[in-house]
Amino acid sequence: MPHIVNCEVLTHRELAPGQFRVALQGPAIASEAKAGQFGMIEVARGYYPFLRRPMCFERILADAFTVLYKLEGEGTRLLSAFLPGQMISVQGPLGNGFPIESNLTRHIIVAGGIGVATFPGLAEALIKVCDTAPEVVLAARTKDLLLCEQDFREMGCKVHLATDDGSAGEKAYASQVLERLSPAPGTRVYACGPMIMMRETSRVALEAGAECLVSLEAQMACGDGVCLGCVVESKHESEGERMIRVCCDGPVFDARMVDWEAHNFAYDP
Ligand SMILES: Cc1cc2nc3c(=O)[nH]c(=O)nc-3n(C[C@H](O)[C@H](O)[C@H](O)COP(=O)(O)OP(=O)(O)OC[C@H]3O[C@@H](n4cnc5c(N)ncnc54)[C@H](O)[C@@H]3O)c2cc1C
Ligand code: FES
Repeated sequence: MPHIVNCEVLTHRELAPGQFRVALQGPAIASEAKAGQFGMIEVARGYYPFLRRPMCFERILADAFTVLYKLEGEGTRLLSAFLPGQMISVQGPLGNGFPIESNLTRHIIVAGGIGVATFPGLAEALIKVCDTAPEVVLAARTKDLLLCEQDFREMGCKVHLATDDGSAGEKAYASQVLERLSPAPGTRVYACGPMIMMRETSRVALEAGAECLVSLEAQMACGDGVCLGCVVESKHESEGERMIRVCCDGPVFDARMVDWEAHNFAYDP
């Protein structure tokens, strides 16, 4: 059941150029949130900007949660100005979150850029339920943009780094690293990042007979299923409808459901 609550900023730090972590005190949200869910953050009081901004929960504690975010535009610029002690209104928890199943033989997280933001909480949940740390492929354009490497290592995850320019780890795309890790039936791959990276990652996983879950992004207005602003095309028809809502049907989907070819990759950053 989503709440709208004022959360106190506990800490707020720039981790890398343009990439921040904010910790928010919010027991009502934290006590119900699960990995893969998100909150709609009010970045300013009043009518500008009018819409809240969707952000995943990075880590979920007993009475607080963290959010990892990248400066994109006006909303995230305003968010970055909040200081410890100030209050931020958050609506959440929203969305479906990741299913956690202990009967799989292998779990591989594949994170591209700021897409990593949803995964520390997932790694913690997998360790708790499955008693085994997932492997992590951490990919970004360049070394400075690789986030959470230490956090995953401290959890006991085996981390594989990849950068587009070779400044850290392999000079490779995330999907190429995944291919070398030889996913197989019994493996579940979890991917979040740019659409083209999720398309390629899911292709590699599915061709190998593994399962693949993707956490999608879309521009959102309401965050709870009403405005249809966040729809993406699905391969499957449900009740005569081929559009799925990222906010409430997702953001986590079985990669086989997503109609990757219907997406216009020309508009991706
Ligand atoms: C479920 C969900 C969870 C998310 N979690 C995170 C997170 O944990 N950390 C994080 O940094 N970002 C996350 N995002 C993306 C984040 O919501 C956008 O980056 C943010 O809303 C941009 O707001 P802005 O006002 O700074 O930029 P705007 O001025 O609104 O936009 C700047 C640029 O970003 C693009 N953009 C805006 N919103 C989105 C969006 N939702 N998805 C893709 N592109 C967008 C615009 O088209 C424009 O090109 C998430 C998005 C979704 C849907
Ligand atoms: S954001 Fe309104 S329906 Fe998804």
